[in-house]
Amino acid sequence: MSGLNLVTIKHKNNLGVKIAGCGFFVPERKLTNLDLEKMVDTSDEWILQRTGIKERYLTPEGVASSDLAVHSSLQAIKSAGIKKIDLIIVTTVTPDYPVPAGANLLQDKIGATKAGAFDLNAGCSGFSYGLVTGSQFIISGNYKNVLVVGVDTLSRITDFTDRNTCVLLGDGAGSVVLQRDEGESGPVAFTLGSDGGKYDSIIVPAGGSLHPASIASIENKSHFVRMDGRAVFEFAVNKTVGVIQEVLDKARLNIKDIDYFLLHQANLRILEGISRKLKIPWSKILVNIDRYGNTSAASLPILLTEAINEDKIKKGQLLLFAGFGAGLSWGVTIWRW
Ligand code: UT7
Repeated sequence: MSGLNLVTIKHKNNLGVKIAGCGFFVPERKLTNLDLEKMVDTSDEWILQRTGIKERYLTPEGVASSDLAVHSSLQAIKSAGIKKIDLIIVTTVTPDYPVPAGANLLQDKIGATKAGAFDLNAGCSGFSYGLVTGSQFIISGNYKNVLVVGVDTLSRITDFTDRNTCVLLGDGAGSVVLQRDEGESGPVAFTLGSDGGKYDSIIVPAGGSLHPASIASIENKSHFVRMDGRAVFEFAVNKTVGVIQEVLDKARLNIKDIDYFLLHQANLRILEGISRKLKIPWSKILVNIDRYGNTSAASLPILLTEAINEDKIKKGQLLLFAGFGAGLSWGVTIWRW
């Protein structure tokens, strides 16, 4: 019996969910591997071989996650052609402030005065969690339009003297408008998971209620993200492979039934490992990590928006979204377009 809390969705009363619009945004300033060579003891060759990343984007001073999210969200709202949003869910680990939520700021900035708004923190699994959460409000029949945003300004929690992390991370935002749809579109099956025992595999040790900001925390650079890269790599490949297979089994589907796999862009070698182990043809795996690095919660909606802009995704196709990251956490959803 599966150890996962797997769910298959039966769309009752024709309450399907469609992704009616999407958008993404990255700030202007590009940081290349050659730039990083001047900052830490690394090389373009090492970064490319070990991660597949060539460049990533950094947010300028005075600009924050909600600002990136405004750009991606206005695109999503425009492409969905909607006037009213019922709910805003912002998935992020880098809100503008610890309090209030980034979603409150975004709500104000886009003038969505009637919308409820909250943040959801599930690390790099954030968008996977957000997609499932937002869908529930629609499938229940309670809301018609839900804006789900994945945004992170990881550069604000990155130690640019730590080569273990700074070569990987980038900033960005991606948004989708989920909308009630008469039909079968939306989540087919999903699972959301967590292994909180491994909470310290990816951690920002200070700035929370256990170790609030102090002179010592600043001196120790404890406000920056720390990561056990090798452990996370192993988790990312093995857990994601196992969970994808179980969700497919639950939905009575096979790898060949899925048209595209949208896997969190953390490391090209992680994607290759998942592809090899599950025998997923490489042409079905969408990849943009070379151009953006790991943008955490923004990774999947950026990937999706690019695929839509390139006209790759067609009505009726099956997509598989998989996020994994801090928590440790994971979320896998099979989605009918
Ligand atoms: O979104 C989820 C969050 N994070 C992830 O998914 C990250 C998962 N982990 C990874 O992507 C990889 O583990 C890393 C890219 C972080 C590291 O790659 P690796 O192949 O696992 O390298 P490693 O940690 O085993 O280190 C190999 C060597 C070490 O040197 P020695 O001990 O063999 O002499 C490191 O010190 O590479 C060295 N190294 C570097 N060298 C040049 C580590 N970082 C760098 C660097 N440049 N940036």
